[in-house]
Amino acid sequence: MTHLTIRTPDDWHLHLRDGAMLRAVLPWTAAHFARAIIMPNLVPPVVTGADAAAYRDRILAALPEGADFTPLMTLYLTEDTDADDVAAAHASNLIRAVKLYPAGATTNSASGVADFTRVQGVLERMADIGLPLCVHGEVTEPAVDIFDREAVFIDRVLDPLRRRVPGLKVVMEHITTSQGVDYVTAHGSDLAATITTHHLVINRNHILAGGIRPHYYCLPVAKREQHRLALRAAATSGDARFFLGTDSAPHTDPAKLQPCGCAGCFTAPNTMPILAHVFEQEGALHTLEAFASLNGPAFYGLEPNSGTLTLAKGAPDLPAHIDTKDGPVTLFDPGFTPEWHVTARSSC
Ligand code: NCD
Ligand code: ZN
Repeated sequence: MTHLTIRTPDDWHLHLRDGAMLRAVLPWTAAHFARAIIMPNLVPPVVTGADAAAYRDRILAALPEGADFTPLMTLYLTEDTDADDVAAAHASNLIRAVKLYPAGATTNSASGVADFTRVQGVLERMADIGLPLCVHGEVTEPAVDIFDREAVFIDRVLDPLRRRVPGLKVVMEHITTSQGVDYVTAHGSDLAATITTHHLVINRNHILAGGIRPHYYCLPVAKREQHRLALRAAATSGDARFFLGTDSAPHTDPAKLQPCGCAGCFTAPNTMPILAHVFEQEGALHTLEAFASLNGPAFYGLEPNSGTLTLAKGAPDLPAHIDTKDGPVTLFDPGFTPEWHVTARSSC
């Protein structure tokens, strides 16, 4: 097989940032993806419908001329979130999800939720109106080992939360463990998970063995090899509950390469070549379209894109880093040369 044409993919978990960084990274996503769920963890975060409308307008203004890309906005859930504001933003199709960050779990999550009784009313309203909750699934207690934080979150937080709010549609964002895969697989169609590009490629040895590699540090942190293999099996299975969320999370090199470096991998430019490579390795090129282009819209109640993206055999011609006015941002290095590159996108 030398060519592969799929419906234009979407990215169901993306960090675009703001200002100069937004302008530098957005064209890379808009080149390959028709839509993306836009993470709200700006400083300050996107908490109200008015914040989301203003951020959407800044994204649209930063799009290159002629780009075919629709940002799907989200709100950052806080203990003060107003259910009426959420419902109004949903009714006008401004937002497609609400994002739950446990307070302190990751980059810019200080305003996240610590006391879940404070958000019960909002979650019940979301269940009523069919608005999905995207969950950063890690506990934040210092006593819990960082490699266990996802599995512990499922037992202590996620499962009780789903029982308290029956019918709530939940996306476990960027799952990194076999426990995450198993939890999704054991439940119904109101639960799904996104899987990132990089978690299909690296395990924790890639970060730590033979020297520390800050560009592989992201949250949730990559786990043991057995977990990477579980993620690859889930992503390539065709199961409608698993779909692509790149979690492309750009930070400048100075922000990553310091004594306390930022978490995040920048994968927007090379996700599609890497995914085609990985799916071919798994003998599953035929399920790439489901993972990248069909399962996500189905969960979110949207039509798949009508256009197509074509990939062809041959290495992509991509820079090692991009320049932004804030400084250089290094692309995720999968450790191999992808054997596929994107050749064409049609928007019919
Ligand atoms: C994200 C970021 O930088 O905003 N970082 C990351 O490692 N994934 C936040 C997040 O999604 O956890
Ligand atoms: Zn993220």
